[in-house]
Amino acid sequence: MPTIITNTTPFNDQKPGTSGLRKKVVHFQQAHYLENFVQSIFDSIGDYKGKTLVLGGDGRYYNQEAIQVILKMAAANGFAKVFVGHNGILSTPAASVIIRKKQTYGGIILSASHNPGGPDEDFGIKYNTQNGGPAPEKITDAIYARSKTITHYTTLDTETTIDLSHLATHNLNGMRIEIIDSVSDYALLMNELFDFSAIKDMIANGFTLCFDAMHAVTGPYATEILENQLGAAEGSVINGIPLEDFGGGHPDPNLVHAHLLAELMFSEQSPDFGAASDGDGDRNMIVGNNIFVTPSDSLAILTANAEQVPAYRGKITGVARSMPTSQASDQVAKKLGINSYETPTGWKFFGNLMDAHKVTLCGEESFGTGSSHIREKDGLWAVLFWLNILASRKESVADIVHQHWQEFGRNYYSRHDFEAIESDKANRLMSGLRDKVKTLTGKQLGTLTVSYSDDFSYTDPIDNSISEQQGIRIGFSNGSRIVFRLSGTGTSGATVRIYYESYETDTDKMNQDTQHALNELINLSLIISDLPSLTGRTEPTVIT
Ligand code: G1P
Ligand code: ZN
Repeated sequence: MPTIITNTTPFNDQKPGTSGLRKKVVHFQQAHYLENFVQSIFDSIGDYKGKTLVLGGDGRYYNQEAIQVILKMAAANGFAKVFVGHNGILSTPAASVIIRKKQTYGGIILSASHNPGGPDEDFGIKYNTQNGGPAPEKITDAIYARSKTITHYTTLDTETTIDLSHLATHNLNGMRIEIIDSVSDYALLMNELFDFSAIKDMIANGFTLCFDAMHAVTGPYATEILENQLGAAEGSVINGIPLEDFGGGHPDPNLVHAHLLAELMFSEQSPDFGAASDGDGDRNMIVGNNIFVTPSDSLAILTANAEQVPAYRGKITGVARSMPTSQASDQVAKKLGINSYETPTGWKFFGNLMDAHKVTLCGEESFGTGSSHIREKDGLWAVLFWLNILASRKESVADIVHQHWQEFGRNYYSRHDFEAIESDKANRLMSGLRDKVKTLTGKQLGTLTVSYSDDFSYTDPIDNSISEQQGIRIGFSNGSRIVFRLSGTGTSGATVRIYYESYETDTDKMNQDTQHALNELINLSLIISDLPSLTGRTEPTVIT
């Protein structure tokens, strides 16, 4: 029987960010904490009674326990049905696929994305709506408001544990629970989008690849699709078993954290293609033999080559990128005569544009790329898009990238992160910059002239909602940019992110070292922001 629990302290103390609520596991383990947040979600999403929910997560520590808590609460609150991923596993893109395909009311995804997992690490929870995308701000604001004042939650007074390890159906106080295969709906959609037989032929003809699943959620997806369906040699997927602590690693696909893959791709033994994905499977890193493809370039290259892919041929209405993402995709959009949008950081801003058919492809510099096939970024989808292009063009990754630069120019690009900075220092840095940018336009800084400087504000072209203070932009007359913003997803202290970009059309200057090519901008950013004296830091903690 449903029971109402009224002792609901502690309250949630953090506004859910662009990717839901993320906290240390121990924070979630406090009595009533998870329950309060789940009830706050249910209280903020309208009339869900009798409706269906999708539930799953990236398999990190506390995933299974949280699922049991949520199932009881969903039953007690009147949901009719919940689809749960086998063993509680659903990648973020697979959850989005299933919400859309089964036309459910929404879904709850348990993940802290690329953050480490384990008893002392991070956990997270987010709600996705029926378009398969992250809840819009009006819902996350309502959830937050509710979570600060909630006085009770409803759950079942039962010790029952639902067996998640078998594909079966269960009845929990009148609510149906269906444990579903985590991979099959996703794999089916990928088969519909891409030319699997061309990729299969390429692999059968000797093309080699390595996919690093980083002991995170994409292991079973990549093994099924790349090895079983496309015929890549056994062992092409490495670190393919999802572990609760990701094997102690940091499941973030970049050259720093996926260093084994990075070393392989820059060695004599390099396969033709390398890729990695993050904790919950929505991010991707693409590497060729001796070449790293920046996520910004990857978005531009996918857009420029969409004609090679059956489902996208003649179907690209536009491309959107987050503001700090390089302007490489803008060049492609201009040439193709398609829409081009610059949105604030975070995937949810793309959803409206895709729902309105304004854009088909979108991406972020933070290793996220995706399309209107779902409403989340999608790691394996990007990998398959690349494989489809490679199979169709029959050229190497390096050749494709170099030809792209020659045609559209090269956007040198890098992001420097200064992590774990005390929040008040980081806030002082940003407010100082906010003042400074008011007077920078037209000024000469070193060899560069500032053509615009502002704190990015975005008016959504579909619902006219306004998002302010989305990051400081300093643009120069030669196409270079510096962007400053604070991370919205960290769990300890503040992270200052500085993004650098320069634009090169001279083919003789297209093969420089990236940090070298951006050196003047890097030095300038430290002077403009006063970062060294305000934070005591001179070197970033992570460079991507
Ligand atoms: C980071 C990325 C951003 C991405 C988000 C969720 O957010 O920078 O592009 O959408 O993770 O994956 P940030 O920590 O910068 O706020
Ligand atoms: Zn992620």
